[in-house]
Order: sequence, then structure tokens, then C-alpha cells
Amino acid sequence: MKELIAQGAESVIYRIERWNQYFVLKWRQSKPYLFKDIDSHLRKTRTSRECKMLSVARTLGVRTPAVYAVDLDDFTILMDYIEGVQFKQLVSTLTENQLKGFCLEFGRSIALLHKGDVVHGDPTTSNLIIDSESRLWLIDFGLSEMNATIEMKGVDLHLIHRALETTHWDLQESMLEATIRGYSDSLGKDAMDILSRMEEIRERGRYH
Ligand SMILES: Nc1ncnc2c1ncn2[C@@H]1O[C@H](COP(=O)(O)OP(=O)(O)OP(=O)(O)O)[C@@H](O)[C@H]1O
Ligand SMILES: [Mg+2]
Repeated sequence: MKELIAQGAESVIYRIERWNQYFVLKWRQSKPYLFKDIDSHLRKTRTSRECKMLSVARTLGVRTPAVYAVDLDDFTILMDYIEGVQFKQLVSTLTENQLKGFCLEFGRSIALLHKGDVVHGDPTTSNLIIDSESRLWLIDFGLSEMNATIEMKGVDLHLIHRALETTHWDLQESMLEATIRGYSDSLGKDAMDILSRMEEIRERGRYH
């Protein structure tokens, strides 16, 4: 049985049952406005990148769904189904302390990636799942990269900042504060350079 659970910007997410267990099948669909070659190249690169980076991130200590199979001709990945709710949808239902707790954890997870010179590439609150035991999972690694520089890490933080101000504008200040606190506490002194790079990137954006 194949059940559609989400239709993202670039992919379709199905939940399937196999061996008495649920899995997610993520299928990157074609974008009709792209040239055929570019389209399949992008779908292939992102599929293989996501598959690899989900594992790299887990090695670094971040909770990500385990991958069971990948098909680069079909542009699909079979991975663990994480039973839970998108953090984005949960935000408005939480107490201030719960919200801070999850943001701290979000910041710590991003710090674990950055410590390993990995950036997520799309660190928004819809790419976080909170499960029934209140654990936070990171998903959607199609834009993730290894060998990340300070600039790339600064961009990752800038994307978090922007996601919070556009999606959760009324709570953005406390969410950002807690996320940055979790990030800095885990990363230690290296966080300074990356945070000032984030500010710099933000300033650059203002004048363009
Ligand atoms: N392993 C998973 N377990 C449970 N739900 C999942 C899983 N993977 C994806 N989802 C759900 O499907 C949604 C879309 O998945 P994902 O972010 O990976 O795709 P996407 O096409 O890159 O999305 P977008 O472009 O909207 O960011 C997620 O926000 C989440 O709600
Ligand atoms: Mg997503």
C-alpha cells in the first residue's frame, strides 16, 4: 500500500508498508520548465546527495531517518518513516519552555553538523520532525554539503534566521535566541566567527 503524505516543492513523499513496518519513499519529480538533461541531472545529484548526507549526518550524531535503498534512475530513496509532526506545525501549540527546548536542540543539531564541516543547506522548521517522544529529527538533505567553509556555515545560520522571520515572525526573537544559544554552547569558541559571518551575510543582503 502506498499512501501520499506530502507533496513538497521538489518531491512527492509516500508512506509505504513493508515487512510490517512503515517506510517513506521520497520521489523527486520532474520539473517541466527545465531542460530534460538538466532536470534529470539535478534529480540524480540531489537524490544521491541526500542519501549520502543522511548517513553522514547520522555519523555526526544527528537524528536522521536511516536509508534502506536508493534508485538513481527512478530518483527515489526508501528511508525510515518518522512518526511525528513537522516542527513548523507544532510551534503555535507549544509553551514557551517547550518551544525554547526544541530550538536549543535544533541549534545543537546544526552545531553537530558544522563541527563535522557539513551544512544542511535548507534548515527550515518544515525540515524538522518532532516525534511522539519529543525527539527532534532532521530531514531533507538534498542541498547538504561536506567540506563546508565558514562562509557556507554562515549561510546556513542566515537561512535559519530568515526562515524564522518569515515563518514565525511573532516568535522569531525567542526562537532565534534559543537556537543560537544551543548552537554556540555546542560549538564553543568556533561559533563566534560563524555568527559574525552570519551578520555580515545579512548586511550584504540588505543592500542588494
Ligand atoms: N522520513 C520521513 N518521515 C516522516 N515524514 C517525512 C519524512 N520525510 C519527509 N517527510 C514529510 O514530507 C515533507 C516533505 O519532505 P522533504 O522536506 O524531504 O521534501 P521536499 O520536497 O524537499 O520538501 P520541500 O521542498 O517542501 O522542503 C516533510 O516536511 C515531512 O512532513
Ligand atoms: Mg522539506
